[in-house]
Order: sequence, then C-alpha cells, then structure tokens
Amino acid sequence: MVRAPVDPQGLEAALRPHGESVMLPQEAYTDPAVLAWERRHFFADKWTCLGRVDELADGTTYRAARVGDVAVVLTFADGAARAFANVCRHRGHELLQPGQTGDRQAVVCPYHGWSYNLDGVVKAAPRMGETFDPSGYGLVELPAEVWCGWLFVNALGGAGPFSEHLGGMADLVAPYRPESLTLKARHSYTVAANWKTIAENYHECYHCPLIHPELCKVSPPTSGDNWDLPGAWVGGTMDLRPDAETMSLDGRSRGIPLPGVNPRTVAYVGLFPNLLVSLHPDYVMTHRMEPLEPGLTAIECSWYFPAEVTDPSYAVEFWDITNREDWAACESVQRGAESPHFRPGPLAPAEDAVYQWVTMLARGYLGKPLS
Ligand code: FES
Ligand code: FE
Repeated sequence: MVRAPVDPQGLEAALRPHGESVMLPQEAYTDPAVLAWERRHFFADKWTCLGRVDELADGTTYRAARVGDVAVVLTFADGAARAFANVCRHRGHELLQPGQTGDRQAVVCPYHGWSYNLDGVVKAAPRMGETFDPSGYGLVELPAEVWCGWLFVNALGGAGPFSEHLGGMADLVAPYRPESLTLKARHSYTVAANWKTIAENYHECYHCPLIHPELCKVSPPTSGDNWDLPGAWVGGTMDLRPDAETMSLDGRSRGIPLPGVNPRTVAYVGLFPNLLVSLHPDYVMTHRMEPLEPGLTAIECSWYFPAEVTDPSYAVEFWDITNREDWAACESVQRGAESPHFRPGPLAPAEDAVYQWVTMLARGYLGKPLS
C-alpha cells in the first residue's frame, strides 16, 4: 500500500507512548494531497458508512453514492442492498449522475443504452450482434454489509472482513438495537474543520468544562472510561449525574427507556473512518462525516428513537446546542492548524481516546493495519 504524503518523523512522534506522543503533523489537517490519499485509502479502501439502509432504499431501487473517491451504484432488491462500480462495462460511461435515484428494475446506461438488472447482470446490450455474449460483462460488485441498520461499502475491496473491522464494538452497540429505532430528527451541518479534528474533539471531554455548560449539568466531564478492544474504533462511556435520566437540557427524558441497556451511562463510539455513534438510555444519535475539503466537512447528525416517541426535541435541542459549541471549537482548531506557527502538541492523560484515534490514523498513513 502507498504511504500517505505525511512526514514520517511526525508520524513516529505521534506513535510514541501516550504521555510522550504529539498530535499528527500539520499537513494531515491542511493538505489537499493528504485528503486525496485519505479518500482513496481511508474511505474507498476501508468500510465507509453510507447511512441507514432503510433511508437509502426508501422509494428507490437504485441510487448513486460515493465512497471516498469512488462513485458507486447502490441497488435495493428483495430486501438486499448491493453496491457496484458506477462504470458501464461497454465503454465506461457513468451509469448514474451524482445524486441520481430511480425506481425501475434496471439501471440503463445513458450512452448506448446497455441495461443492467439490480443484481448487476446485463439485461440488454442493444445491437451488439448475434454472437455477442454479455454474460462476462456484469457490473463490478463491491463488498457491502448492513450492520445495525447502517450500510457500509468497501469500494476497493481491500479491507478485511467487516466483523474484524467492528471487533469488540459489535457487542457494545447490539443491546441498543439501533436497527429497530426510527429516524426522528436530522440536522445537516457544514463545519469549517478537518474531518479528523471533529472526531478528535468527539473523543475527549477535557474541553467540556470550558465550552459545554449544558453537558456538564447532566454528565460529569471527568466520569467514565474508554475501551481498548479489538477493531477499528475508539470509544468510551460517561456517567449521567444521579438526578439526570438522559442527555437533555433539564436531564429529563421525554422518550422511552431502551430495554436492556445501562440506564446510567452514555457511550460514545467512533467507527473508523466516518461514523460516530452516541448511545443514550433512551435514544441513539449518530454523526456521519463526509470530508469536502481539508478544512471543510459535511456532518449529518441523526436522532433515532423507538417508533412510538413523537417529540424528540428534548434530545435535539440539547445536542444542537452542544454540537454548535463543538463546531466553533473545531473551526478555531482548524484555523490554528493553518497557521505557519502551528506545531503538533502533546495529549493530556484524559485524552487517551484521542491518542488511540491518532495512533490508528498514523498506522494507517504508514500502510500498517489500523488496529
Ligand atoms: Fe454504456 Fe456504451 S458506455 S452503453
Ligand atoms: Fe464537545
């Protein structure tokens, strides 16, 4: 695998033991060449989350999507989600344009009209001659997995098994049964910060006393522990204060407790590269990130509740305020990272999950296994 265009000595410094290490080199946050490398190797060649399969499939049989720098066609037939390269097997025209969806039983190439069934097999190849056998020209299929309701695609096929990617995270998330929950609210943010900065900020509460008065009212910022289990993810728990039922402005829940989950903690897990999952006693919130530029990231924040819950506003209000506090901090960190005087700084003991995340990235940049 090709190494990232990131200073190897800087990566060595990031990989020193926690307490001696520093953050990633400046170019990791600012250089378009690094983002191009990440799109290819961290997104297209790993398991990237494209969203919830029920939302992607809703009202469609196929849709265009992107996994890092690779354009894909997703198809939905008989309850199965599949992913294919968005490249016609005739002369390579794109089958779908960005954002395009359809509800027919075949995907038709707009160039010479070859059509493909939803399983990628050629349905018709007009006027190719009587002796032409289309059976060897099906669409290139890409590994896809649905887990807890989310669709993941490995567009270059080089990632290991999805179960190894998840590792110990699978058992931590399973009790919340996210696949049984319903989307009740969504906010889309565009944040002027690198996508990794947003994850780094997510993985520590060292900043909470300074910028999150609402959060500190319901959850002690020094509470909880981080996990160190197999898999390409980082995360930990935080406690709720004794008088708080969930993360909301007054600590009250107006939802329904999720059965079989710890009612006293909130778990924050980040699955490499782009899905942050926040597990509450009564709802699940996700942040799905898509890098747009080195200093610009689209974030889709979603709140999932049991179907019977009609008013998610207690959770949305709390997290929208907290999100905006975080985005302001991340945007300031980005401006700092772009300064000629920026130097990678050290990590506090409480930033152990940031350390785990940064070392995972540094190993990936060097072409080594993430975990
Ligand atoms: Fe698609 Fe010719 S390139 S039909
Ligand atoms: Fe925060």
